[in-house]
Amino acid sequence: MSEKIYQGNIITSKSFDELEIIEDGYVCVRDGIITDVSKEWKKEYRDHEYIDHRGHLILPAFSDLHMHAPQYPQRGIGMDCLLFDWLNDYTFPQEANFKDETYAKTVYAKLIRDFIAQGSFHLVLYTTIHMNACNILADMLKEAGLYAYTGLTNMDRNSPDYYVDTTEESLRKTEEFILRNMGHDRVRPILTPRFAPTCTKELMEGLGGFAKKYDLGVQTHLVESKAEAAWAKELYPEFASDGEIYEKCGLLQGSGPKIFAHVIFPTEVEERILKEYDGISVHCPDSTSNITAGIMPAMKMSRKGLKIALGSDVGGAHFLAIYRTIARAVQISKMKEFYEGDERVKLANAFYMATVNGGSIFDRVGKIEKGYRFNALVVEDMLDEKLPHFLIGCIGKVLLHR
Ligand code: GUN
Ligand code: FE
Repeated sequence: MSEKIYQGNIITSKSFDELEIIEDGYVCVRDGIITDVSKEWKKEYRDHEYIDHRGHLILPAFSDLHMHAPQYPQRGIGMDCLLFDWLNDYTFPQEANFKDETYAKTVYAKLIRDFIAQGSFHLVLYTTIHMNACNILADMLKEAGLYAYTGLTNMDRNSPDYYVDTTEESLRKTEEFILRNMGHDRVRPILTPRFAPTCTKELMEGLGGFAKKYDLGVQTHLVESKAEAAWAKELYPEFASDGEIYEKCGLLQGSGPKIFAHVIFPTEVEERILKEYDGISVHCPDSTSNITAGIMPAMKMSRKGLKIALGSDVGGAHFLAIYRTIARAVQISKMKEFYEGDERVKLANAFYMATVNGGSIFDRVGKIEKGYRFNALVVEDMLDEKLPHFLIGCIGKVLLHR
């Protein structure tokens, strides 16, 4: 099989603190895998198909590690609420619509189209409590060639009558979803307890059993707001903190990724757990500005060696595009720096979170480097200036290999 050579201004991460920009560089690709990256033309490129992207940026596709697929039509609605009102007044009624399979197909088809157009190829997705809609989403992701972890959302208390499962139902449906969707190379199941307040201990322990039995990871919301952390503690008085609920109920026993959204108020317990289980904290600056009270201490946590990725958290956030989340992570961190003295997030840091850290739970994605998949974006580089124009979203071409 012949190789392809792409030429353009390559942007990738050199380290957490530094971008690498290779002007008019070459990326050599065979079967979707990068076989060489070079600043210079090499003789052996002669026989390869040449694709000219000079005057454009070539960068790795983004990873969105926290997004609620059924909330896609809801973005921008209820932005003036705090978390609990937003959930009860807007979000639960919206998610309940996914009982209807036709509705699910319509929304999920548009969502997948937009993920690809916006350059987010690697995803961790919440769903709803509806088995058929969850399977529809998983099948559509597989068909599109996207990379994803997704699971049936678990809720067996503190939820409205029209949108809740019994403990037994929730566990039965979860296991059925796991068994149906295990074994695919790109789209994989993950345990998805909505958050501690909507899950009983019995349900959490049941999910802990699946973590071990099927060797799965987990996604959840963790110390998301002061009210949420306090409510979790009240409901689980035997545990020291929100994070300990997941640990003690066995949800961290599998080898799959442990994805914790928000982590705005981590205690020493959360920090220990994140380290010990190689957890990823997902910074969703748009969402936590819109509906919650706080800004993740992203740099403080990064400097302690904790891994931070980015998430859109649509519909808490009103935008899907991770390139906008990168800009927002920088922007909001300056408020934290100004008022609390935390270090600001630089563009290179946020880019690393959105590509390398986010990509680390998938198979060799997130860098333009030999051995990585060439899941990449081609972006107009207005005047060939090698500037980060990707932040304003003029993505010209998406390179997603089947
Ligand atoms: N906590 C519980 N459910 C949700 C949700 O749907 N979105 C966000 N951002 N936080 C939550
Ligand atoms: Fe969320």
